[in-house]
Amino acid sequence: MPVRRSSVAFPKCSLLVSLRILLLVLHAGSPVYSQGDSQSDNKVMDNITVRQGETVFLRCEQGDVVTHTAWLNRSSILYAGEDKWSVDPRVSLVTLNQEEFTIKIENVDMTDEGQYVCAVQTSSRPRTTSVHVLVQVPPKIINFSRDIVVNEGSNVTLMCQASGKPEPSISWKLISNSGDLASDDELLEISSISRQRAGVYECTAVNDIDTDVQTVDITVNYAPSVSEGRDAGVTPGQRGVLECEADAVPEADFEWYKDNRRIFNGFDGMEIINTGSLSKLTFYNVSDGDYGNYTCVAINKLGSSNTNFLLYGEYL
Ligand SMILES: *[C@@H]1O[C@H](CO)[C@@H](O)[C@H](O)[C@H]1NC(C)=O
Ligand SMILES: *[C@@H]1O[C@H](CO)[C@@H](O)[C@H](O)[C@H]1NC(C)=O
Ligand SMILES: *[C@@H]1O[C@H](CO)[C@@H](O)[C@H](O)[C@H]1NC(C)=O
Ligand SMILES: *[C@@H]1O[C@H](CO)[C@@H](O)[C@H](O)[C@H]1NC(C)=O
Ligand SMILES: *[C@@H]1O[C@H](CO)[C@@H](O)[C@H](O)[C@H]1NC(C)=O
Ligand SMILES: *[C@@H]1O[C@H](CO)[C@@H](O)[C@H](O)[C@H]1NC(C)=O
Repeated sequence: MPVRRSSVAFPKCSLLVSLRILLLVLHAGSPVYSQGDSQSDNKVMDNITVRQGETVFLRCEQGDVVTHTAWLNRSSILYAGEDKWSVDPRVSLVTLNQEEFTIKIENVDMTDEGQYVCAVQTSSRPRTTSVHVLVQVPPKIINFSRDIVVNEGSNVTLMCQASGKPEPSISWKLISNSGDLASDDELLEISSISRQRAGVYECTAVNDIDTDVQTVDITVNYAPSVSEGRDAGVTPGQRGVLECEADAVPEADFEWYKDNRRIFNGFDGMEIINTGSLSKLTFYNVSDGDYGNYTCVAINKLGSSNTNFLLYGEYL
C-alpha cells in the first residue's frame, strides 16, 4: 500500500483507507500495520445535533498510552495532535491531554454536517471514534407571493417556500376572515376566487426549532351591487335625503339622475356626498318641483348597478 505524505486532504478513497493512511503518516518510523489488522476498535457515538451558528464540541477519549491522535472531517484532517491542519478559523483545539482530545467548531453551518472521526493510536492498538454532527436550521420563508389584486372568478395561486432543517412544514390560513380556508401545501390554489375569500393569508413554516410567518393580501375586485332604494316622503320646505349604498371593490363612483337627467353636486339646492360605499343626495328645502323619480348608479371598472327612488310629497 502506497504511503502518501503531507497531503492535507486525502483523495476520495474510503474513510477506512484514509484512516489507515493517516495512521501510517502519523506513525512514520514505527512498525506498519498489516491490512488485515483486526485489532482496531471502532466506536460510534450518539449523533450530535447543533443549531446553525452555534458551537459544537467534538470530544474523544484518549487513555492508555496514546502515541498519535487526530480529528478528521470526512477524509480531511482537522487536527493531528496539537497541530492544526485545517485552515478553517472556526476550528480550534480545546483540550488535549491523557484523558481527552476535544476540538470545537464555532459558527456551525449546514456544510459542517456529516461524520467526524477521531483516530487514536495507542501502544496497544488503533482506535476510532466517529460521531455524526447534524445541523439544524431555523425555518425561513424564502419564496413568497406578493400582495395581489384579482377579479372575482380568477384562479389564484399563492406560493410559500421555506428553507430549514429539518424541512419545515407549511400551513396556510385565511386570517382576516372567518378563516375557513386552510392548506398544508407550499402552493395554495384557489380556483375561481370569490369575494368571501379576499383578505390576509398567513403562511407558517415550522420545524423542530422555530417558526417563520409571512402574510399576503388578496384583493378581489367585483362589480357594484346597490341595495334597493328606499322611497322618501317629504313635506315641502323640509329637508329630504335619499341614500344609495353600493357594495363594490374597488369602491364605486356614484351618479344621480332625475328622470334620466344627471344631477350634479350643488345643483338646485341639492348636495351629493359620497363616503365610501354610501352616496347621499340631500335636498335642503324640498319643493314641489323636486318630487319625482330618482336613480342612483354605482360604477366601477368591472361594471355598474342602479336603483330607483321616489321622492314624494307628504302633506300634513
Ligand atoms: C444519526 O444521523 C444519521 C444521519 O442523519 C442517521 O442515519 C442515524 O440514524 C442517526 N443515528 C441516531 C442514533 O439517531
Ligand atoms: C467539513 O467538510 C465539509 C466538506 O468538505 C466542508 O464543507 C466543511 O466546511 C468542513 N467543516 C469543518 C468544520 O471542517
Ligand atoms: C420562487 O417560485 C417561483 C415559482 O415557482 C420560481 O419561478 C422561482 O424560481 C422561485 N424563486 C426562488 C428564489 O426559489
Ligand atoms: C381556472 O381553473 C380551472 C381548472 O381548475 C379552469 O377550468 C379554468 O379555465 C380556469 N379559469 C381561469 C380564469 O383561468
Ligand atoms: C324654502 O323654499 C321656500 C320657497 O322657495 C321659501 O319660501 C322658504 O323660505 C325656504 N326655506 C328655507 C328654510 O330656506
Ligand atoms: C322611475 O323610473 C324607472 C326607470 O326609468 C321606472 O322603471 C319606474 O317606473 C319609474 N317610477 C315612477 C314612479 O315613475
